[in-house]
Amino acid sequence: MPGKTGSALFSPAGGLRGTLALPPDKSISHRAAIIGAICDSPEEIGNFLGSDDTAATLAAIQACGVRVERPGRGSLVIHGAGLRGLSAPAAAIDAANSGTTMRLLAGVFAGQRGCFTLDGDASLRRRPMDRIVTPLRSMGVSIEARDDNFAPLKICGGKVRALDYQMPVASAQVKSALLLAGLYGDGPTVVREPVACRDHTEIMLKAAGARVEKEGLLTRIYPAAKLRLDRVVVPADFSAAAFFLVAASIIPGSRIALPAVGVNPTRTGLLDILDEMGARIVRKPAPGTQAEPANDLHVEAAQLKGVRISGEISGRAIDELPLVALAGAFAEGETVVSGASELRLKEADRIRGVVDNLAGIGINIKARPDGFVVRGGGKRPRGGKFKSLGDHRLAMLGAVAGAASREGVEVQGFDCVSVSYPDFRKGLMSLMNDPDGGLRTLDAG
Ligand code: S3P
Repeated sequence: MPGKTGSALFSPAGGLRGTLALPPDKSISHRAAIIGAICDSPEEIGNFLGSDDTAATLAAIQACGVRVERPGRGSLVIHGAGLRGLSAPAAAIDAANSGTTMRLLAGVFAGQRGCFTLDGDASLRRRPMDRIVTPLRSMGVSIEARDDNFAPLKICGGKVRALDYQMPVASAQVKSALLLAGLYGDGPTVVREPVACRDHTEIMLKAAGARVEKEGLLTRIYPAAKLRLDRVVVPADFSAAAFFLVAASIIPGSRIALPAVGVNPTRTGLLDILDEMGARIVRKPAPGTQAEPANDLHVEAAQLKGVRISGEISGRAIDELPLVALAGAFAEGETVVSGASELRLKEADRIRGVVDNLAGIGINIKARPDGFVVRGGGKRPRGGKFKSLGDHRLAMLGAVAGAASREGVEVQGFDCVSVSYPDFRKGLMSLMNDPDGGLRTLDAG
């Protein structure tokens, strides 16, 4: 892909120091745009993420006739078309690299008149869609997919039957697609998850006036007459913070602060994992946004110890598990991640991507079908080349590995970080160069 192939070199860093403002949450930004598109009145969004993935969502809703205004940097006004007001464009909608865009919009299109085609880039075309195709068909929605499993998807919506569905995989995107489709149901729709996954959709739909009930792992949504969200402010992205939580924990001499990071408990599995590994992370309350809580996070380097991860916690740390592998390389003893075969179905196969790359820079790591085993080495890994495989989270993992290595890491295909965090390199560099200054700002507050 042109523009996505550049390499970037990440040299060994002394301690990371300073305060870093992180980009807005990607998951919440997608939802603010998609739910805003089916509101009855304009929604103002503050601190919307500017990235390739969220740009795909904005372009998609615009293609369906929704007007999007940009009054200032990071702020948007979405002029929603109403619950059933989206119009089907003649051309396919391009979700680019974004699974969230494709799967959540499929749920919304279930309730619209007309036929909508959703397509994506080569990576998204390889990712499984049967997980939404099967339940949406059970809701009476006409949906075609290549080989019944892959994009492009063609969804002809209209009538939606309520469904009681036990999800076979833990996926917030699937849950969200079904809850959004449930807005158009002929009765309450119930979605049961195997483990808790991010609940931003439920939170935002409730704020928009939908009737949503939670009972443990069960979510029930009732058909809605209209939605209204006046203003949504997106908190900083925990999944972006994660790179720096791990970087500062493993690079000796580090001491950093990350202000006002979203700490919705369905996202913060990595904090629990790092806690168990002996990391030194202090959380201080920060003003949250609506029902999404936020904390200032203060991190200092620490000697970590190995940990075993499986089950419930992986649903709350799914995007952060690659970082657990790197943390494990710096820990005493063995770190084992299992029950995480979903990692193979992300923007790239993240088990293969993590294991091949980290092994290639000198880390003792072995793949398992559903995770990996890392043996901590007690010293910095050598360094070398690291392939992003076009996956933004692998590219950023490679950068952190480089900063923590002895000889540096060249991340090939680094530019794909623009999918979620275009300024990632700048952020990391600022912590390498800032001797201390920024810390004072937060401490004073
Ligand atoms: C997301 C859900 C997760 C996550 C992805 C964002 C979301 O995917 O990996 O980065 O915003 O709902 P799955 O639903 O496939 O687990």
